Amino acid sequence: MDSGNTYWDDRALLEWQVELGATDAIQDTPVDRYTLEASKPKPKVETPSGPPAIPEPVEVDTVAVAKMAAKNAADLPALSAAMQAFEHCEIKRGARSFVFSDGNPDARVMIVGEAPGREEDRAGKPFVGRAGQLLDRMLGAINLGRAERDAARSVYITNVLPWRPPSNRTPSNDEIAMMLPFLQRHIALADPDVVILMGNTPCQALLGRTGITRIRGTWTEVLGKPCLPMFHPAYLLRNTAAKREAWADLLEVNARLKT
Ligand code: URA
Repeated sequence: MDSGNTYWDDRALLEWQVELGATDAIQDTPVDRYTLEASKPKPKVETPSGPPAIPEPVEVDTVAVAKMAAKNAADLPALSAAMQAFEHCEIKRGARSFVFSDGNPDARVMIVGEAPGREEDRAGKPFVGRAGQLLDRMLGAINLGRAERDAARSVYITNVLPWRPPSNRTPSNDEIAMMLPFLQRHIALADPDVVILMGNTPCQALLGRTGITRIRGTWTEVLGKPCLPMFHPAYLLRNTAAKREAWADLLEVNARLKT
């Protein structure tokens, strides 16, 4: 359309609009600049070859992590902290407490059980339920007790796993293998004269063997220390006839402590 303006008229008009702050020329139809922005082609990210790679999930060697953490623990409080910080054992998520140990760490006798049960999970201490009460009576019969201050008469108690497995199920081989470096370090740091393994799970962990009915009562070695497998007190609660063998094993421990 011819406005009748000269070139110089139009130019002066444009300069005046620019002076007023105009930045864009107004067109006959409105322009939706949001749509323009969205439809702009995205800058291409160059990858060496083909589409961007999706990272593979990293597989963690949990036993190696546990070994390293256990090795770096210089004393029992450091070991307890390292175990609490260990995030690879799934049963930790369902447990209420971390159960490390009870008794006197200087004791000559160290007892290794399986894992906390419901009572232990509540209390945060090993062997406090019915099985634990029987264990205390058994130990009392040979003049030992977890509350004793005298290292010669006290015991130190821990478990293969520091967390309660769901529904008290038996720990899996993977769980045992993952927590074994911590248990081995625990024994090394506590440095007892005698280790007692209560039931199949600690025998599986530390001796690589089960079959407690056959192996109980026979001395063996763990980390260079004399070690005696015994029936688990929970088993003795269900099979009272086996208390006779348990008593014989306690006398063995007593005799070994006197040598
Ligand atoms: N049974 C175990 O083996 N450990 C406990 O702490 C309690 C029951």
